[in-house]
Amino acid sequence: MTIRAVAIGIGHYLPERIMPNSEFEKTLDTSDEWIRTRSGIANRHVAADGETTSNMATKAAQAAIDDAGITIDDIDAIIVATSTPDLTFPSVGTMVQSQLGMTRGYAFDVQAVCAGFIFALTTANSMIQTGQANRILVIGADMFSKIMDYTDRSTCVLFGDGAGALILEGRAGKGTNEDRGILSADLNSDGRYKDMLYVDGGVSTTGTSGHLRMQGNALFRQAVERLSATAHHALGKVGLSDSDIDWIVPHQANIRIIKGTAKKMGLSMDNVIVTLQDHGNTSAASIPLAMSVGKAEGKIKRGDLLLTEAIGGGLAWGSVVIRW
Ligand code: ACO
Repeated sequence: MTIRAVAIGIGHYLPERIMPNSEFEKTLDTSDEWIRTRSGIANRHVAADGETTSNMATKAAQAAIDDAGITIDDIDAIIVATSTPDLTFPSVGTMVQSQLGMTRGYAFDVQAVCAGFIFALTTANSMIQTGQANRILVIGADMFSKIMDYTDRSTCVLFGDGAGALILEGRAGKGTNEDRGILSADLNSDGRYKDMLYVDGGVSTTGTSGHLRMQGNALFRQAVERLSATAHHALGKVGLSDSDIDWIVPHQANIRIIKGTAKKMGLSMDNVIVTLQDHGNTSAASIPLAMSVGKAEGKIKRGDLLLTEAIGGGLAWGSVVIRW
């Protein structure tokens, strides 16, 4: 018998305010046309004053709990992937725990920037398989609007705010690729590329939270190659191949990266969940948001084989293969 971490509920939250590309035209030398054609983004959601990452995460978590038809008492642990916490500490995880009224179990954060949800999923999978918890709420939540330099047209047009949550439950599987749940994962990082994408502030340096800085073009060149490689590693570990995939659920950073990766994997865009046009890049939230929207639209169905992949600051990148 193999314990599998099976998805039993998914949900998301997006702040009410939608910011279209045209808003940037008022203050920056940019255009709706440039942003759409170079990135694929048309709109992003931006958090209201007073709204926090933990508030967004809690709303997404509640939607996932409702979707699963369980209560917070059924959850053993919470893992939040974020790089934009409310405070330096305590963790967003414990804040969500308190907002959901959970007084047992444990909660913590993981930080792998845009690849955060992949690292959080893999951590949750290991914890379920080793008996540390049976039901884990895995959340990706980020508020990048707070770390944008709104005078830098090469970055501020790309990001948005949001949260997504997935509940994993340990269930007995047969140990074959027909089992529902996480079948394989592949994690990577290479700190030599730290200057390609970073925030220029922090506790032990400037004492400020800083602004995002990115060598977009250099990162773009890394992305397609590394994303298709990690996907192939994860699939290869369990003897699966590209043609077995029903849906790629990619990190939503750039439509050209998404298309390039799908092409390299020999898959059509009909097999890819794309939400980037409406959400922008929501960092650690982008994959669970896309999963949630994909399921709500009736695309992702029980038994489908999903391949999720992401790359972000670190560089850190990876992928997870999951049968829905
Ligand atoms: N409007 C108009 N022109 C712009 C804008 C803009 N908003 N932004 C940049 N430009 C200009 C540049 O100044 C440059 O002008 P120049 O040729 O006169 O110097 C020109 O457009 C081309 O710039 P590039 O950076 O070469 O454009 P590119 O085609 O690479 O697209 C982009 C830029 C969209 C940032 C792309 O490189 C990208 O998506 N990179 C990857 C982002 C990513 O994957 N991030 C990882 C995840 S994020 C995370 O982990 C937090």
